[in-house]
Amino acid sequence: MNKEFSANRIKGMGTSIFSTMSRLAFENNAVNLGQGFPDFDGPLWLMEEAFKAMKEGKNQYAPTQGILSLRKAISDIQKKYYGMDRNPDSEITITAGATEALYSTFQALINEGDEVIMFEPFYDSYQADVILAGGIPKYVTLKKPDFNFDFDELEQSITEKTKIIVINTPHNPTGKVYTFEELEFISKLAIKHNLLVVSDEVYEFLTFDNAKHIPIATLEGMKDRTITISSAGKTFSMTGWKIGWAIASDKITESIRKVHQWTTFAVNTPGQHAIANAFSRLDEYLPAFKKEYLERRDLLLKELVSTSFSAHKPKGSYFMMVDIPKLNIMSGVTPDMVNDEEIAINLVKNYKIATIPPSVFYGKSDEGKSMLRLCFAKSNETLIAGAKNLRKFK
Ligand SMILES: Cc1ncc(COP(=O)(O)O)c(C=O)c1O
Repeated sequence: MNKEFSANRIKGMGTSIFSTMSRLAFENNAVNLGQGFPDFDGPLWLMEEAFKAMKEGKNQYAPTQGILSLRKAISDIQKKYYGMDRNPDSEITITAGATEALYSTFQALINEGDEVIMFEPFYDSYQADVILAGGIPKYVTLKKPDFNFDFDELEQSITEKTKIIVINTPHNPTGKVYTFEELEFISKLAIKHNLLVVSDEVYEFLTFDNAKHIPIATLEGMKDRTITISSAGKTFSMTGWKIGWAIASDKITESIRKVHQWTTFAVNTPGQHAIANAFSRLDEYLPAFKKEYLERRDLLLKELVSTSFSAHKPKGSYFMMVDIPKLNIMSGVTPDMVNDEEIAINLVKNYKIATIPPSVFYGKSDEGKSMLRLCFAKSNETLIAGAKNLRKFK
């Protein structure tokens, strides 16, 4: 069988670093601060809601666009938290997690050769989705230490072929929360050059300190230009439920639904009912949820102080970037030789601590090579044990 069966469009794709690090973490019995999801369950009452829906016979296919009560609940949230009017019938589509919302959106909008600007480090499915759809990813770097971007760099990256700018706020992996000024600049460019914005807001309810999540769709002139993508997985610490959504103008929604119907057709029914009911409790649920994650963030920050890794304090999401200790003169390593992948493999094998080397989230710069990504959606014991192992690395 020497015939090449694989499609050309997947030729450049390798195994993701997540699988590699998870395998190494398992083989080395390492503490895992790499894996980007909670090592605990979401609320029991939510599981009971799902079981209740199952017992009530809500077990067959849901409508392709998602059950109406969930679309209505999402529309209500948009109104209540962001003052947005969104039509649940024509502007909201329930998808298999934000992942499918992103995939269906890019498939629905990109023609061969269209350019899509994304900020690096990026959530890796944007790059893959754009390539799968025949588009060309272009990158603008979020620069250390604050992960701000250069407004000129963004403006100059727009060409005749640019169709979409992708943003993610709060941001994985840096914990950046885009400010009003940044969003305003992006929206002015989008309007000036007639571009769309795909805004990934899966951590919309996970902001800390005085950071405020601002959906770019709320800015003047942006409602019909933005595809807002989110998911219940992060908000309820149930990432395996994979219930997400895309909110867009009715015209764009029509296109997204065309892809969605041939991708997953419909999303798991009892889960949709459970999340629709959970959203009616969102107000009472959120304060404890945010407090819990804030405590986890602060615990990890505190534990990291006595390691050689310095943290970039995140304002949102459940990730943080840490700088790799620059010089290990004894072993002859100079700053320009710091390589996140090598360090991450060394850490997991010899120090029993798994992290994610973030250079895979960069398309053009070397910024990621000097950092590691840690996830603090972990039990206190795991966070403490992880920092303890990091402490041994000088
Ligand atoms: C920024 C970002 N977008 C999308 C997703 C995927 O969300 P879902 O699990 O709902 O598909 C993740 C998951 O880690 C994420 O961090």
